[in-house]
Amino acid sequence: MRRPVRIAVTGAAGAISNSLLFKVASGEMLGKDQPVILQLIEMPGRMEALRGLAMELEDCAYPLLHTITLHDNVEDGFNNVHYALLIGARPRGAGMERRDLLESNAEIFSRQGRALNDFANRDVKVLVVGNPANTNALIASRNAPKLSPSQFTALTRLDHNRAKGILANHTGANPRNIGRIVIWGNHSPSQFPDLHHATVLDEPVMGQIDRSWYEEVFIPKIQNRGGEIIAARGLSSAASAAQAVIDHMHDWILGTEPGEIVSMGIVSDGSYGVEKGIIYSFPVRCDYGRYQIVKGLEIGDWARERMKATEAELIEERDAVQHLLPAETAESHQNLSICLRSGVTLYADGTGPDASSKYLTTNRVM
Ligand SMILES: NC(=O)c1ccc[n+]([C@@H]2O[C@H](COP(=O)([O-])OP(=O)(O)OC[C@H]3O[C@@H](n4cnc5c(N)ncnc54)[C@H](O)[C@@H]3O)[C@@H](O)[C@H]2O)c1
Repeated sequence: MRRPVRIAVTGAAGAISNSLLFKVASGEMLGKDQPVILQLIEMPGRMEALRGLAMELEDCAYPLLHTITLHDNVEDGFNNVHYALLIGARPRGAGMERRDLLESNAEIFSRQGRALNDFANRDVKVLVVGNPANTNALIASRNAPKLSPSQFTALTRLDHNRAKGILANHTGANPRNIGRIVIWGNHSPSQFPDLHHATVLDEPVMGQIDRSWYEEVFIPKIQNRGGEIIAARGLSSAASAAQAVIDHMHDWILGTEPGEIVSMGIVSDGSYGVEKGIIYSFPVRCDYGRYQIVKGLEIGDWARERMKATEAELIEERDAVQHLLPAETAESHQNLSICLRSGVTLYADGTGPDASSKYLTTNRVM
């Protein structure tokens, strides 16, 4: 049996966590041979609900669940963690503008970024789920000068999985036989679900579906699926979001299937002409615990226009929280040549191996 790893989860008594934690404890995220320590974090008023959830976890007698600790603050909860799943966020209240939502979450995520910087394991991998996920991830990353920007990601895997499921349903194919879907941009209705590179049973999808179905039905369906689920259930997607968290972390840590592409919100290094330094969903492959952007996909004018529209929304969100993005980390987010194939990380504060090191062979690490 391996040594246990520490996983922090914020919003741990919420709906997503109620599905997620049981999957994590049963080994779905990190494999059936990896014991876990769960460091669960909630608002002070929700600690009793969290205690109830912890009792249920204990009652499952999972062999891989080493320890559960409960925390009402992130400074304690992030202590020494290897993985941080930032799920808790302030929901949009009545009369709240998008800008107010950004502002109130910005405070939460800047504190969480600082706490990760000060207390987490130096190689922590962070996934932000709480909305607006991309910009919350950016705020956390910009407030963690000792960590590499490549350690911070945002969840767009749910959109990716939705696209795969709906395409499988439409074509009659098994999801296992569908590949190379790409979600570009923001986890919001502005995202661009791209099927131009996708395949069903290794044949291009675009030759097997109607262009008008793709443009008029498929794209709006994926973009608005979250809202459709809220309208039907009266609650936002929870179990499917939990599954997407499992898939995102599993692939990041243990690697993607050979030849497969997945979508992750990551700090843009300027690939495909996307503004550097924003958290944008790209096609990636993962290996050895690191992700790498899939380069060289051909982008037509029609697709480019959609990629630009979602980029513009992310730039606007970034500008709205500019006052919470410390100048100290501006440079590290503009220059992502900080990632090494050897598995050694060059951190945002410039520490780590020298940039001329013979191990510095690629520009993506975590
Ligand atoms: N990126 C995605 O694909 C995706 C998908 C679904 C939901 N979401 C987002 O995930 C978030 C959580 O969804 P949910 O359904 O679990 O919500 P929920 O309201 O059921 O649970 C959220 C929990 O977070 C806690 N919380 C709030 N602020 C916190 C903080 N600062 N520290 C610790 N805990 C805090 C709350 O007390 C609550 O228990 C929402 O922001 C939702 O919009 C994102």
